[in-house]
Amino acid sequence: MQLKFVALACTLLLVACEEKRPPDADSHTPSNSTAPVLRSELDITLNHIIQQHGLTGNPAQTPLPSIDSPKAQLGMKLFFSKTLSGNLDVACASCHHPLLGGGDNLSLSIGVDASDPDVLGHTRTLKGNKAPGVPRNAPTTFNIGLWKHVMFHDGRVGQVTAGITTPDSTYPQADPKAGDNLVHAQARFPVTSSAEMRGKNFDIGGTSQSCRDLLAARLGGYAPAPHPLQSAETAYWLTEFRKVYQSPDNSAKTLITEQNIAAALGEYQRSQVFVNTPWRDYVQGNLDAINETAKQGALLFFKKREDGGRDCASCHKGDFFTDEQFRNVLIPPIGPGKNTPDDGSQQDLGRSLVTNKPEDKFRFRTPSLLNVAVTGPWGHNGAYTTLSGVVQHMLNPFDTAVNYDVAQLKQPNVQTKQLQQNLREMLGENTDLAGQQYEEQDVRQLVAFLQTLTDPCVTNPICMAKWTPPPDQQDPMGLQLNAKLP
Ligand code: HEC
Ligand code: HEC
Repeated sequence: MQLKFVALACTLLLVACEEKRPPDADSHTPSNSTAPVLRSELDITLNHIIQQHGLTGNPAQTPLPSIDSPKAQLGMKLFFSKTLSGNLDVACASCHHPLLGGGDNLSLSIGVDASDPDVLGHTRTLKGNKAPGVPRNAPTTFNIGLWKHVMFHDGRVGQVTAGITTPDSTYPQADPKAGDNLVHAQARFPVTSSAEMRGKNFDIGGTSQSCRDLLAARLGGYAPAPHPLQSAETAYWLTEFRKVYQSPDNSAKTLITEQNIAAALGEYQRSQVFVNTPWRDYVQGNLDAINETAKQGALLFFKKREDGGRDCASCHKGDFFTDEQFRNVLIPPIGPGKNTPDDGSQQDLGRSLVTNKPEDKFRFRTPSLLNVAVTGPWGHNGAYTTLSGVVQHMLNPFDTAVNYDVAQLKQPNVQTKQLQQNLREMLGENTDLAGQQYEEQDVRQLVAFLQTLTDPCVTNPICMAKWTPPPDQQDPMGLQLNAKLP
């Protein structure tokens, strides 16, 4: 109390209180020294910035489900089950594992046709050493319930006045089957992608909707025979769904629907709220929660250019560190590109694939930066494999992109042949981020700040155990993904 009062007095009176810090002030260990830590000049400046930006430290102000709710528990089982893929070889967790930062540690995701479907992380490869077919980096599912407007790097699932638009409805029309939140709406799409989960031979010639319906029917045991799920497996799922929906007599056909599957997947993912960061502690008054270097980094991050800052917060806004807008910031164009013609051009047009507007070419959604230290590789295509690399890019996109070194890619066979040509094309459009001169120290400080945005739970397997199911003894066909992690 006393400490808070002194700190407050220092701020209100706009005086720099004498800085008294424990000897280990630069470490994360909270001080148990009795000498009160007073706000330094740096703390006072940061405090003003925190007020100016209206930060509370806590982006999770709306109610989100608990992982202990029965629906989230069912969602977790489904999220880790390979039954939702055409060839029974991929689960959602294959690309969004809670112990891999809610992603897969790959630049470009690998879904179907993995050499070993259970191997996750940077050693996951495709059979026959093929080049990755999924064009983009898997974003984290952590804090997914905090997005208010758009899902995906290009925002193709998004809130519109009449509801939620998706690739199944013409943009910007609402999709009547989208469900009642963005995460539910999103969960209906990975299963329809042939490179992610569907495979080439499932529901051949069918639509996205027929694919979802057939997967649900297969899981519920009411799909036309022959299908690969044993009756013990479908009975197991019926019991699970009946428990959650508290309807012991309802049939699989009414309970195991593509909508109920997506709703449960959404509930589980929305329970992944990891926002208890050192930065939050600091914003909420614990002056010792982050070290001096990180505080300098925070200044650079939030201050405007004219005030000597780097103005990162003009896009990475607020407590969730995103404005949910789309920008061309020149991330080096590697990978096969999304929906590219068969001419080998491999260019990913980003947001304009959704809106068809030429000015949206090469624009991608501003990512949140919560837990960013554990969600690499970075950029919509995982072009950067170090956090300092992507920070340098954000400081000076043009020079960094032109000098981009493909040798940093850890994943074999990522397409880079078109890199220079595609980059030139990108440079021909309006870019949305101007370069600035910077020192090595700026990078170090910004990286230190970004590291304070990690909730310690996400790097602690014991804390994460709630979101990672133990091996399921009851799953009759053993189709739960028990990942072999790096
Ligand atoms: C093969 C890997 C792979 C699998 C399997 C997969 N995803 Fe993804 N996921 C991705 C990639 C890549 C993206 C980004 C695609 C884009 O933006 O174009 C993504 C995007 C998402 C997003 C949006 C994140 C954001 O920040 O907007 C969510 C949520 C998500 N996936 C959930 C799921 C669920 C639920 C499943 C299972 C039904 C699943 N994913 C299966 C790779 C995968
Ligand atoms: C003009 C808006 C804008 C500004 C200013 C900006 N960013 Fe970004 N940032 C983006 C966008 C958009 C992306 C994603 C680009 C992509 O994937 O193609 C991004 C990506 C990132 C990433 C990678 C995150 C991930 O999950 O892949 C980091 C880290 C980052 N920015 C940090 C910063 C820092 C630090 C600054 C200030 C030096 C900054 N940004 C300034 C818009 C901006």
